[in-house]
Amino acid sequence: MNPDRPRVVCISGGTSGIGAGLVGAFLVAGDRVRTFGRDPAKVASLSERWAEATGAGDLTASAGDVTDGDFRSRLVADIAQRHGRLDVLVNNAGVILGQGDIEEPVEAWRATLETNLIAPFALIQACLELLERSPDPVVVNISSACAQHPFATCTSGSYSASKAGLDMLTRRLAMGLAPRGIRVNCVAPGVVESPMWGGAGDLIETTVTHRHLLGQRAIEPRDIAEAVLFLASPGARLITGATLNVDAGYTLG
Ligand SMILES: NC(=O)c1ccc[n+]([C@@H]2O[C@H](COP(=O)([O-])OP(=O)(O)OC[C@H]3O[C@@H](n4cnc5c(N)ncnc54)[C@H](OP(=O)(O)O)[C@@H]3O)[C@@H](O)[C@H]2O)c1
Repeated sequence: MNPDRPRVVCISGGTSGIGAGLVGAFLVAGDRVRTFGRDPAKVASLSERWAEATGAGDLTASAGDVTDGDFRSRLVADIAQRHGRLDVLVNNAGVILGQGDIEEPVEAWRATLETNLIAPFALIQACLELLERSPDPVVVNISSACAQHPFATCTSGSYSASKAGLDMLTRRLAMGLAPRGIRVNCVAPGVVESPMWGGAGDLIETTVTHRHLLGQRAIEPRDIAEAVLFLASPGARLITGATLNVDAGYTLG
């Protein structure tokens, strides 16, 4: 069944990089978007960039931390009050905090897993009732090529492990939520130039040169958005538990 238009879409971490690209893509598709990030300045600049959509109530952006249970509860209550249902949930917020393998501090592991793995699970759990009110509910998790192999170009073990966990979470929940009609899928990007890289231009260049077999360039947020839009569309109605690599061939070998 086609979802009612406009769809109600919640995107975590939509204030920067890939998430900001997703916000724009869903708005252009005519949907209503709810997003958030921790930094109020980034929230304000996103709202300014999409001033018309914000004024029309099509975009609501606020400051909040996805690892905070009280924030998640307020977010869900706000979506329920404004829209009464949720059609698409994109777990996009993510961090790279450590570097290396055995030398990474335990605290970096804990904080990375909290943001990249536990918070997506908790947000899906919190949104379940709202998703069940949608005619075609879908969850898309933003994973990473680094989940699939310990590539030397993936510089943080905790990051890779968190995303590998997210891939398995996707498959577990796809199975568990299929009886409720909720599809759960993953998109796994290769290198996307974004603030997450913290200006590590050398590493981007090396990775593109050695791992991107197509295009010889960083992937753009709109490439990721196209994949997410597809997975959220009726054309993907029988796709669940899938990981769609948008990685220019990164994971091939
Ligand atoms: N860039 C790449 O090459 C690449 C490759 C593969 C996968 N990915 C994945 O794609 C996703 C987006 O990454 P990006 O490259 O767009 O990074 P980014 O530019 O750093 O954006 C991350 C977004 O998440 C938000 N965020 C981080 N922690 C949060 C928290 N605890 N609560 C709420 N919001 C939070 C950030 O806002 P605040 O900092 O203000 O909270 C920001 O809006 C991540 O899951 C990342 O792992 C990226």
